[in-house]
Amino acid sequence: MSVRDELQATIADMVQRGKGILAADESTPTITKRFQAVGIASNEETRRIYRQLLLSTPGLGEFISGVILYEETLGQKADDGTPLPELARSQGIVPGIKVDKGLTGLANAPGEKVTQGLDGLAERLAGYKAQGARFAKWRAVYAVGPDLPGRLAVQTNAEVLARYAAICHEVGIVPIVEPEVLIDGDHGIEQSETVTEAVQDEVFLALKRHRVQLEYIILKPSMVIPGKAHPVKADPVEVAERTVRILRRTVPAAVSSINFLSGGQTPQEATARLNAMNAGYPHLPWLLSFSYARALQEPPMALWKGEATNAAAAQAAFLHRAKLNSLAQKGTYDVGMEQAR
Ligand code: 13P
Repeated sequence: MSVRDELQATIADMVQRGKGILAADESTPTITKRFQAVGIASNEETRRIYRQLLLSTPGLGEFISGVILYEETLGQKADDGTPLPELARSQGIVPGIKVDKGLTGLANAPGEKVTQGLDGLAERLAGYKAQGARFAKWRAVYAVGPDLPGRLAVQTNAEVLARYAAICHEVGIVPIVEPEVLIDGDHGIEQSETVTEAVQDEVFLALKRHRVQLEYIILKPSMVIPGKAHPVKADPVEVAERTVRILRRTVPAAVSSINFLSGGQTPQEATARLNAMNAGYPHLPWLLSFSYARALQEPPMALWKGEATNAAAAQAAFLHRAKLNSLAQKGTYDVGMEQAR
């Protein structure tokens, strides 16, 4: 298969109505923090068991078309010896891999970050591909403050995201391009909108400059929401209106799918806001879906608590959340469905 055919096939498998992406690519320090919050010890074995639990959930493939894994998980096996990427594949879920190496301070830009991991990326991608990964993810973050983000951070992160995407395409891997505007702080929704528009403008400018074919990327943006310390909570209709407005201004129609991150929203908020977009704006050029980590995993992780006897209940809660988000992708979710299971 040519590289282009490979990219096209992966996009076709991942971009499906009523389906979204499970982000299960928490780095070891991040999953450890999440486990500790609910009293679970974090070691290679508990992480393996937990991710096996997620991927072996019966029926998951009806709502989830792709899973982002962490490097450790890519090499782990289920109890019966099946590699975890293969377990995903057996449910019709495309395995992918987080490939960035995390954040570091951006020199000469106090308070701002740049994402690392470009050196040797092509070689690493070839190895991940041999282990079954068909797509990748790279996350850039943007802090919001009175003078943040600045031009330097916006331009540098866009350049790095575009170089990552171009390298992925050379080896037949679909890149998820994730510019995350952080919700830390007390900024209002207006500032969130202004920043997110500027960030996305710059990202698409850089993708063009690096000759990235937009048909073969997936955008993973933030929704336009106020900072978490802001006194006013935005309702789903306002979030939908502002988010769709800037997507229309910044994202070419050649992009086939936009899969939001949840970024610290509650599971219910993340579902209701995605639903409001799809219910209110049914004729957009892209599929609007999800690529949630916390908003899909919080309920099952809290129920599981590291105990085998809780596995079935955790899987049921996980499947329910995946189903509600699938309905939100179609714009047919209703808050009354939260309890019905
Ligand atoms: P959240 O949905 O928890 O924000 O995580 C998505 C993700 O992949 C962050 O990189």
